[in-house]
Amino acid sequence: MKLDGAQREIMEGARGETLAKVMKTLVSYGEAFGAEKMVPVTSKGGHLVTSFGLGVMKPVYALMDTLIEGGALSAQPFSVDPRPLAKEIPVNFFQNLLFKIMYSKQADYEKQLEKLGLMNPKAFTCTCYMDEVGNKPEKGEVLSWAESSAVVYANSVLGARCNRNSGIIELFGSIAGYVPYFGLLTDEGRKASWKIVVKTTRKPEAQILGSAIGMKVVEDVPYITGLSSWLGNELNDDVRSYLKDMGAAAASNGAVGLYHVENLTPEAVERGSALIQKDAREYVIDDAELERVKKSYPCIWKNPDAKPKLCFIGCPHLSLSQLQSWTERLESRGGKLKIPVIMTCAPAVAEVFNKTAYAPRLKKTGVILSSICPLMYMNNPLCGKMPVITNSNKLRTYTSARYYTDDEILNYITTGAVQ
Ligand code: F3S
Repeated sequence: MKLDGAQREIMEGARGETLAKVMKTLVSYGEAFGAEKMVPVTSKGGHLVTSFGLGVMKPVYALMDTLIEGGALSAQPFSVDPRPLAKEIPVNFFQNLLFKIMYSKQADYEKQLEKLGLMNPKAFTCTCYMDEVGNKPEKGEVLSWAESSAVVYANSVLGARCNRNSGIIELFGSIAGYVPYFGLLTDEGRKASWKIVVKTTRKPEAQILGSAIGMKVVEDVPYITGLSSWLGNELNDDVRSYLKDMGAAAASNGAVGLYHVENLTPEAVERGSALIQKDAREYVIDDAELERVKKSYPCIWKNPDAKPKLCFIGCPHLSLSQLQSWTERLESRGGKLKIPVIMTCAPAVAEVFNKTAYAPRLKKTGVILSSICPLMYMNNPLCGKMPVITNSNKLRTYTSARYYTDDEILNYITTGAVQ
């Protein structure tokens, strides 16, 4: 690894022993991936994936204390993934007890985050790049993030540059102000080794299209053609929300950190098919392929015929336009819910939404609006046994939640049946 003078000084302890260790860790991490140099983090904000104060994560809290005591604080303010707890979520006595035990360090951990550089107490969301939240990177900026749904969005839709880092490493990058230069930070690493040809007869469900792409290309970069005929050529609110959900599915069902969409995403608009490697493989996605992929999802409920008890919509967190659209769709069905429905969005998005005329309309339907992370809610033996349905392919992948398309979810929560 070639280091410049300032980087070498940090490594040698000129700015303290703790920061030297942080830098050494980043350099070793970069060397493991063949990085030849470190480059400055140029975004205004960082983003941390570890948002939960699990009692068992003692080494993390000890590490945070060491960083704080050693003065190795984040050089940039950062947002954090959503909290695992929220008082508006209905829980029974045993769930409440379990959450208290599991997340016994939540309050202490949040105090540590404040000391390290948390943007503000409302900055707990995976969609930190929403305008309302205020941690939106510019095209070409170098980031140190880890949350897979945020990394793929920043790279693909915003044209920023970030690797799929691990948790804690991303914090170290924000502290040192440098990240190793490899992978998705480089021009070469941003070229597509897959050409995806969308040939469907209707607009593909974002969550299934992303899933199909993720499972096929795994960690490679896909260049998607044929999609702008369904989405148009403008990155408006609805299209950004679609790409957010498609990307999160590709990042969790596979390990996609960047995709290009012909005529739509910034680098594809700029460079077109020059982004596709000469030996790129091709994957054609038609109606039958999407159906095949959807049918391949297992239902891991003990009783697959169980009646769902809860529905989560908003993983990743919903945008303002998605909240408005769900309000209208629920109203078009009479607005009565058959099962409890939780919709999740960033606290700052909820704040703006609550000032609109849509807020009382959504509330009237009985939907609970929250900023919790549904995955954190589900990842325990008590909630994991519950029959939960969702329109999120990420939540399906990491928990026992059962996936349904948006239309199926709408049917289920308003009529009690999928069809
Ligand atoms: Fe966000 Fe939690 Fe889903 S971090 S993407 S709501 S798993």
